[in-house]
Amino acid sequence: MITFDASHAHLREEISAYQAKVDACHAALMNKSGKGNDYVGWVEWPHTYDKEEFARIKSCAKRMADMCDVFVVCGIGGSYLGARAAIEMMNGLFSKQKIEVLFIGNTFSSTYIAQMLDYLKDKEVCVNVISKSGTTTETSLAFRLLKQMMEEKYGKEDSAKRIVATTDKARGTLKKIADEEGYETFVIPDDIGGRFSVITPVGLLPIAVAGIDIDEMMTGLKQAYEDMATSDLKKNSAYAYAVSRRILQNMGKDAEMFVTYEPSMSMVAEWWKQLFGESEGKDGKGILPCSATFSTDLHSLGQFIQEGKKVLYETLVLVDQPMTDLTFPSATEDVDGMNYLAGKSIDWVNKMAAQGTLEAHEVTGNVPNLLITIPDMSAKTFGYMCYFFFRACAMTCYLLDINPFNQPGVEVYKKNMFRLLGKNES
Ligand code: PA5
Repeated sequence: MITFDASHAHLREEISAYQAKVDACHAALMNKSGKGNDYVGWVEWPHTYDKEEFARIKSCAKRMADMCDVFVVCGIGGSYLGARAAIEMMNGLFSKQKIEVLFIGNTFSSTYIAQMLDYLKDKEVCVNVISKSGTTTETSLAFRLLKQMMEEKYGKEDSAKRIVATTDKARGTLKKIADEEGYETFVIPDDIGGRFSVITPVGLLPIAVAGIDIDEMMTGLKQAYEDMATSDLKKNSAYAYAVSRRILQNMGKDAEMFVTYEPSMSMVAEWWKQLFGESEGKDGKGILPCSATFSTDLHSLGQFIQEGKKVLYETLVLVDQPMTDLTFPSATEDVDGMNYLAGKSIDWVNKMAAQGTLEAHEVTGNVPNLLITIPDMSAKTFGYMCYFFFRACAMTCYLLDINPFNQPGVEVYKKNMFRLLGKNES
């Protein structure tokens, strides 16, 4: 379902030279002997996921959708990005779905929080609070405000029916609150970290509420699992992508720009940035993940990519079939000089822009390009793509001898912030 092409980065033999290392890393991932092996639950998840819980997600999503016109997801990082990426990619940015899904708990901005609470005042609202640790400050702060708003609006008993908590099965403050208040709860598995959790209830419930077929998403996930069972670099495109990343960094490319031509995939880029940034950026190693949406950003970052310092390569994520297309009209008087496109599809124009840009960046600008092509923006493709990037991420980190599944560095800002906020940490 995904094709990977490294020819625009001029890599061929170099990739196959990594086969023995990839075999070893693949074995370590599959037999759980690699670094961070407590967090590899996502590897077998396409088969091991809890089918009863999955059915409950679907019925809860229906119950929520019947009750609200706005579904508010309260979470940050891995407890936020995947669901938003999925919903925007599959529904587009001007969705006609009855339920609007909004995100809070991912910022301390008083403007953002106050405006959203105000926006929710005259709406029918349901809430999904998501936190694996159950103690993340951004999420807890927003949830206290949301909970108060819901209780004032619906009363304690009815608001409890409108709030769902996704958290650890036993530990953490959120689990305690959920049990005390009688919220329906879903479990974030112990052995799946935040940035790998979009395939668990963390992502599945909001995605289902948004009207997306989560069965299809799991079908894509299963297919990817099967396609990636082999470590053969000629067959496993996720591993070929991982190896290409390593080779390009060894050539001095310390930044990777995730490029899409679909504005509705810009949150996929944010999700991808977290996945690779938090997994790989440690021990003084890693590639800086950044992103751009073309052709929009060709009018801003395009200049740097073309002629600036040669620090980066691009990973171009192309979509074969757009969600929808339209034909460019002819005008009797060609005042704007655009009649040369009359009768052409807009998607064709987008694809020609991509082809011309690839040539400009690769040939004239000497910027290597890795091409990842997905068939469409469907739920099945999203599931497949998640697993593709998970496998690529784990492989790229194991090749660097890094634990992909921890994020010790993110604690430093929290420590300083808590000191400044006067939090008692004893
Ligand atoms: O990838 C991660 O583990 C992090 O980004 C977490 O998802 C994020 O910090 C939110 O954590 P929690 O779900 O515990 O609130």
